[in-house]
Amino acid sequence: MIPKLIVFLALTVTVLSQNAEEFLKVVEKSVKHATERKGRIFNPAYVGSTYKQYAGAQHRPTFLYNQQPVAEEKFDFIVVGSGSAGSVVANRLSENPDWKILLLEVGEEASFLTDIPAIAPIFQFTNYNWNYLAEKQENVCLGLDGQRMAWPRGRAVGGSSIINYMIHVRGNRRDYDRWAASGNPGWSYEDVLPYFIKSEDARVEKQDGELRGRGGYLTVSDVPFRSESAHAFVRGAQEVGHKYVDYNGADQLGVSYVQADQRDGYRCSTEKAFLRPARERPNLKILAQARAIKILINPKTNSAFGITYVKNRQYFNAYAKKEVILSAGAFNSPQLLMLSGIGPKEHLQELDIPLVKDLPVGQKLYDHLTFFGQVFTVNQSIVNLQKAVTQPSAFVELLFKGRGPLTSLGGVEALAYIKTNVSRDPDPSFPDVEIIFVGGSLSTDNGDFYRKTFKVSDEIYNAVFGPLENGFTWMGIPMLVHPRSVGYLKLKSKNPYHWPKFYGNYFTDPENLDIKTFIAAIREVQRISDSPSMQKYGSTLVTTKIPGCQHHTFNSDEYWECSLRHISATLHHQVATCKMGPSHDPEAVVDSKLRVYGVKRLRVVDSSVIPMPPTAHTNAPSVMIGEKASDLIKEDWIKAKGNIRSKDIRRHSP
Ligand SMILES: Cc1cc2nc3c(=O)[nH]c(=O)nc-3n(C[C@H](O)[C@H](O)[C@H](O)COP(=O)(O)OP(=O)(O)OC[C@H]3O[C@@H](n4cnc5c(N)ncnc54)[C@H](O)[C@@H]3O)c2cc1C
Ligand SMILES: *[C@@H]1O[C@H](CO)[C@@H](O)[C@H](O)[C@H]1NC(C)=O
Ligand SMILES: *[C@@H]1O[C@H](CO)[C@@H](O)[C@H](O)[C@H]1NC(C)=O
Repeated sequence: MIPKLIVFLALTVTVLSQNAEEFLKVVEKSVKHATERKGRIFNPAYVGSTYKQYAGAQHRPTFLYNQQPVAEEKFDFIVVGSGSAGSVVANRLSENPDWKILLLEVGEEASFLTDIPAIAPIFQFTNYNWNYLAEKQENVCLGLDGQRMAWPRGRAVGGSSIINYMIHVRGNRRDYDRWAASGNPGWSYEDVLPYFIKSEDARVEKQDGELRGRGGYLTVSDVPFRSESAHAFVRGAQEVGHKYVDYNGADQLGVSYVQADQRDGYRCSTEKAFLRPARERPNLKILAQARAIKILINPKTNSAFGITYVKNRQYFNAYAKKEVILSAGAFNSPQLLMLSGIGPKEHLQELDIPLVKDLPVGQKLYDHLTFFGQVFTVNQSIVNLQKAVTQPSAFVELLFKGRGPLTSLGGVEALAYIKTNVSRDPDPSFPDVEIIFVGGSLSTDNGDFYRKTFKVSDEIYNAVFGPLENGFTWMGIPMLVHPRSVGYLKLKSKNPYHWPKFYGNYFTDPENLDIKTFIAAIREVQRISDSPSMQKYGSTLVTTKIPGCQHHTFNSDEYWECSLRHISATLHHQVATCKMGPSHDPEAVVDSKLRVYGVKRLRVVDSSVIPMPPTAHTNAPSVMIGEKASDLIKEDWIKAKGNIRSKDIRRHSP
C-alpha cells in the first residue's frame, strides 16, 4: 500500500511541478532508502530532504529555515524550541523591530507531506518524532510490545504541531478558572479568552460567533471530508441526550464535528501559522537542527544569560541580553532545566550536576489516556475507508480542491464531551470524558500504522482486529480528561543526548476512579451505538475477547478493567512537568508570569507549565500560552509607557 501511496503522490506532484524527472528520481531513491533501512517503512523526512536536493529552492516549503550560526552572537531573547508555543513567542517578540530574537530548534523543517492530514500517524515513524518510550509499569500496557508505551513528540520546525492529529480544542471555562483559583492570577477563562481569539481565524460552521476569532494567524476549520458514519454518530449522540454544540464556544458539554488546525484542507501547523509570516523579519534568526544543551547561568546573580547549543557538530554560545525562554515542550524543557542545575536537589546530586536551584522539576506529570479495545461494526460502507484514502482520485481532490478523504484527521471526525455518572465534580457542566469518534479501528489500515503507533501486540491485533480487516468498523474512543493518577520524569544521566526516563503511573489512584470513569464512558459509547441513527446501520459491538482477558465475562466491569490494563495508550497530552503555581505551592516551578523561581531572566513557555490536565487536546492551550506569555514579556520590558521605544528597552538591558 505504501509504495503505491508514494507513486500516487509522485504522479500528482509531478504534474503540478513540471519537474517530473527530478521528482521521480526522488521517489526512486526514497523507496530504495525505505527498503534498505528496515523499520523505517516510509520516511517522509527523507523524501523531503531528497526532494530538496533535486528540486531546489523554488519548491515550497524547502530551505525556509537555513540560517547559519555565528559564534558568540548576542540577542535580546533566545527561544528554545519552535513548537506550538515557541513558534508563537518567536513571532510575537519579533514584532518589535528593536528586539533581536534567536529561535533554536533541534528538528528539521517539515516536508510538504506532513501537510496531508489523513496520513498523520505515518510521521511517528520518521525523524519528526523524538520516539520516546515510557518506562515499564506493573499491571498496565500488558498488551503492548515490550509492555512499554510509545510517547511520541514532535521534533521539527513546528514541533508537535507537525505530527499531531490537528484536533483543535480550547478547553473548558472551568479549566482556566481552576488555574487562577489555585493562585495563578491572570489565567482565568476571562483572562485567557482574548488570547484564544487573537490567534484564531475560525472557519467553522457551528460556532458561537462572538467567542471565536477572525483573521488571526492560526486557521481553525471544519474538516472538508465527513463520512456518513460521522453524521450518524453526531445524530445518534443527540438522540441519546447530548446537545449539538460548538465545544470551543459557550458550552463544551455535548457533541459536534471535529474542528481542526487546518487551512484549505491541509495541516495548519504553528510553523505555517506563526513562523512562515515572520521568518523574513531581519531581527528574527531561526536555526533548525540546532540543539540547546545547556542554559548559561551566572552563579553569582543566578541570572540566565545565554544558551550553549550544538549545530553541525560544533558547539556555540549565544547570549541573551534580556531573557532565555524555554519552549522545548513538556519533556525537554524540564530536561534542559535539570541539565543546567535547576531541579530536585537529590536527583541532581546523584547525577553529579552542580545545583543552581532546588525545584520540583519533572515531579508532576499528568497525561490523557485513551482506550481502543471497544470496536463496533456497521453493515454498510459508511466509514472512512483506507481504500478511499489511497485512491488516486483522493490525491487529485486534495491537490486541486483541498477536499476529499485525505483531509480527514487520521480518521477522527467528531467529539463528544460527557459527564459520566461516576464524576464527583459538583459542576454539572464540567466533563470528565471526551469521546472521539473514529470512522474505523486499528484494523482499517490492516495494522500497518495505527496499531504500531500504539504498539499493540501481534497477539492482540491478530485475535481481535485481524478478522475485522475487510469489515466496516467504528470506535468511540474515550479520553480520560481529568486523571487522578500522576506520573513524573527524571534524567537518566547528565548527558544531554540521553533520553529522560518517563513514568506514567497510570491507574494508580487509590479509589480506582480512573478505571471507573473509563468503564462509565465505555457504556456511554454503547448507548450511542444503540441510538436509532447508529442502529440504522446495524451498529454492533464486537465481542471477541482480547487475549489475556478471556477468563472474564465479556462486557462485565472486570472485563473492561482487564482490557484497559492491556491496551490503553497515551493521547500525548503530557503536562505540568514545570508546573505553574504560587510561591507557597511546593510543586511549582514557575510563577504566574512563567518565570522560573529563584533564577532571573529565565521563563518556561509551553505545555509543561499547565498546572492541571485540561478538558482539551493541548495544542490550542499551548498556542494560547505562547500568546499570553509574549504579552507578559512585552509588559515587563516595555514599562507601561504605551509606545515601544528602543531607549526604554535598552535601559532594562544588562
Ligand atoms: C502524536 C501526537 C498527536 C497529537 N495530537 C494532538 C491533537 O490532535 N490536538 C492537540 O491539540 N494536541 C495534540 N497533541 C499534543 C500537542 O501537539 C502538544 O501538546 C503541543 O504541541 C505541545 O506544544 P509545546 O510547545 O509544549 O511543545 P512541542 O510542540 O512539542 O515543541 C517543542 C519543540 O522543542 C524542540 N526541542 C526540544 N528540545 C530541544 C533542545 N534541546 N534544543 C532545541 N529545540 C528543542 C522540539 O524538537 C520541538 O520542536 C498531539 C501530540 C502528539 C505527539
Ligand atoms: C452508571 O450508569 C450505568 C449504566 O449506564 C449503571 O450500570 C451504573 O450502575 C451507574 N452508576 C452509578 C454510580 O450510578
Ligand atoms: C443494516 O441493518 C439495519 C438494521 O438491522 C437494516 O435495517 C438494514 O437493512 C441493514 N442494511 C444492510 C445493507 O444490510
